[in-house]
Amino acid sequence: TGKFTYDPGFLSTASCNSTITYIDGDKGELLYRGYPIEQLAVQCDFLDTCHLLLYGDLPNVEQRTTFRKRVTNHTMVNEQMQFFLRGFRRDAHPMAVMTGLVGALSAFYHDSTDINNPEHREIAAIRLIAKMPTLVAMAYKYSVGQPYMYPRNELSYAGNFMRMMFATPCEDYTVSPVIERALDRIFILHADHEQNASTSTVRLCGSSGTNPFAAIAAGVACLWGPAHGGANEACLNMLEEIQAMGGVAKVGEFMNQVKDKNSGVRLMGFGHRVYKNYDPRAKLMQETCKEVLVELGLENDPLFKLAMALEKIALEDDYFVARKLYPNVDFYSGIVQRAIGIPVSLFTAIFALARTVGWIAQLNEMIADPEYKIGRPRQLFVGAAKRDVKPLAER
Ligand code: CMC
Repeated sequence: TGKFTYDPGFLSTASCNSTITYIDGDKGELLYRGYPIEQLAVQCDFLDTCHLLLYGDLPNVEQRTTFRKRVTNHTMVNEQMQFFLRGFRRDAHPMAVMTGLVGALSAFYHDSTDINNPEHREIAAIRLIAKMPTLVAMAYKYSVGQPYMYPRNELSYAGNFMRMMFATPCEDYTVSPVIERALDRIFILHADHEQNASTSTVRLCGSSGTNPFAAIAAGVACLWGPAHGGANEACLNMLEEIQAMGGVAKVGEFMNQVKDKNSGVRLMGFGHRVYKNYDPRAKLMQETCKEVLVELGLENDPLFKLAMALEKIALEDDYFVARKLYPNVDFYSGIVQRAIGIPVSLFTAIFALARTVGWIAQLNEMIADPEYKIGRPRQLFVGAAKRDVKPLAER
């Protein structure tokens, strides 16, 4: 049909110019604003990474203090949020709840709703980064029927999140530095990943000039799917299923199912549209996973052993080798989160918490681009030719 290029799944179409994240899928390289993920994961923390993604560079000492003050100034959410949350069933999926809560933020901040105003976008960015941990922890507390814990601004970003999750008014909670650092690393590794499905959703949604909080809620909704952010939950469920089948001894049998295209079974946490080599995030996550299990005395964690066995077989198997399928970030992140007490159903919400900065940085970049236009893909129409409506009795 000539006029438009047909490219389902955007396999070969660039939707934008971007200066934020660079991926070399063949080398297995990931850079945020030019800095290798391996250096950021070791030398910086998540809030440094947020500064980098939002403003283009790592903060100096003064910028670091100012940025942290600004974020912590916004960690509480409006008290009315509790009543909104109360409308959900307690067993609602946290991602259903998060889609609602983030969308609801759009109703609270009338001073930052103009996406075309850079100051509005800036304050919306700070609010989102600051409030996501509070919202995820509230969703969790609601699901277990415990009182909400207010944020504590003297704690680190990850430390505050763990406290809001696991402290109660009867008992405070202290987190070990190893665990705090592991969670912070999960946040860094998930902070941005160029034009993935949820980020593209945020850009497309924001391109209509909508409320910035609403655009981020669209990203949360997209992330939920098992082919994207939902893979961490799906991966852990898969490992638990294999464990229930008989564990490491059953890996071969499970792999045969995966290789049988009719089974519809995929090895979750494996494969990536861009990485055709080891996902560098998966390497870092595997290291963190080992550290956390040692810290918690869970070196013999059966799911970790199972994951290692699966990985080994997959990396040697012709099916996986031919298709260049390697573990992705979600393969080990679920094991870490489970070990530190985070329920499986909350994994994707934690991914959303971390990806929020990427979404908002990408949204800001799009709006500030002089070439930006409303996103409006074309189609190749393959339906019925023009025809006349028949009277009901003749149809
Ligand atoms: N297990 C088994 N086979 C697979 C897998 C897998 N996980 N992933 C891809 N394949 C096969 C697929 O069947 C196809 O085979 P063939 O060429 O014979 O038809 C080939 O590999 C290419 O797959 P594709 O579906 O065309 O690749 P894609 O780029 O469209 O999909 C993906 C990428 C991530 C959706 C896919 O690899 C997948 O479903 N993985 C499992 C889910 C997952 O772990 N997702 C998290 C991605 S990383 C975090 C994030 O970005 O959210």
